[in-house]
Amino acid sequence: MTTAPRTDFTATRALFDLPQGVIYLDGNSLGPLPRAVPARLARTVTDEWGQMLITGWNRAGWMDQPRRLGDRIGALIGAEPGHVVLGDTLSIKVYQALASALQMTPQRRVILSDTGNFPSDLYMAEGLCRTLGDGYRLVTVAPEAVADALDDSVAVMMLTEVDYRTGRRHDMAALTARAHQAGALAIWDLAHSAGALPVQVAAGGADFAVGCTYKYLNSGPGGPAFIYVAPRHADTALPALSGWLGHEAPFAFDPHYRPGAGIDRMRVGTPPVLQLAALEAALDVWQGVDMGDLRQASLALTDRFIAGVEATCPDLRLATPRDHAARGSQVSFRHPQGYAIMQALIARGVIGDFRAPDILRFGFTPLYIGAQDVDAAVAVLAQVMAQALWDKPEYRIRAAVT
Ligand SMILES: Cc1ncc(COP(=O)(O)O)c(C=O)c1O
Repeated sequence: MTTAPRTDFTATRALFDLPQGVIYLDGNSLGPLPRAVPARLARTVTDEWGQMLITGWNRAGWMDQPRRLGDRIGALIGAEPGHVVLGDTLSIKVYQALASALQMTPQRRVILSDTGNFPSDLYMAEGLCRTLGDGYRLVTVAPEAVADALDDSVAVMMLTEVDYRTGRRHDMAALTARAHQAGALAIWDLAHSAGALPVQVAAGGADFAVGCTYKYLNSGPGGPAFIYVAPRHADTALPALSGWLGHEAPFAFDPHYRPGAGIDRMRVGTPPVLQLAALEAALDVWQGVDMGDLRQASLALTDRFIAGVEATCPDLRLATPRDHAARGSQVSFRHPQGYAIMQALIARGVIGDFRAPDILRFGFTPLYIGAQDVDAAVAVLAQVMAQALWDKPEYRIRAAVT
């Protein structure tokens, strides 16, 4: 049953600075600029760094920022307070979670993931297995085959909840329960979930969760990642990346590592203060946003886009599940000329992106996208397809970032 939304999405839209004439359907890759960020950054640079100099670590609260903002993100992903911390990049946080989880299941050797997982997660797992040797290996199966592949060899199930290419969503609670039954731990990558849909890491039983902030949380390019460790593991999970800020007493300058209490041990080195300041301002847009309303509105937008494209672009093949429960907040279509089609769209002000080999990817968030944007984007795409406007040599030239 749906209920009347309490969230004012017209008000949230006004909190973003979007360029005129652009329909931005790529916030699943890089969130747009919240209006409050430039002033907050300027204040941090001028008043804090400029005036306080090194005393800013204490006086401006820079050192506590990774934990403070961790709690604000924790509230968006259903985490217990005090169990999320910010820092580093998502790839690093994947490595940390994996290394800790493997140490907690020492009699087993397999990291189980799926073939749709983001390559960096798989590369991190491969690299860690190479470093550990001793029979450690990564096994990947099709996303729908994960549950059946959980046997007594699996130490850790490492999955991304929402597939970066297709938008297909795993059932976090069910798969985590299945992993636990099989004696394995569960690590969830929330890169395409945090800020995109309601997430319940605690209720879902996740052992570890990681995610980035530059997509649906709008922290800007290079914004830091986050890591969640379930309270039951927080004081036993051993960090493989034992940096000084994860030490029990960083300013004792002890020559030997002793892990800090709880989630603090997942800190590594100096926090990115400017990026955290941007994130802090960006997180203000969530005040008054109900995640249930967000999901309802996001599904309405993605349904509308799917219906519009299918009605007007017969050559595009839907890659995203139609079932609401089985998808995130993006819609993807396949076409052999996907790259050129996306360049033609971008040239006409509709910004999505392309993922090899043939995926056109469109991200939606009701925070700043409305039904009229969806209709306008469908109209442009329909024209690009009907008139083959993509069929130009300049649209085939691949940029470094697609
Ligand atoms: C699902 C997923 N995992 C990991 C990463 C890698 O993140 P980072 O570049 O911050 O290490 C990404 C990047 O987009 C991603 O989408």
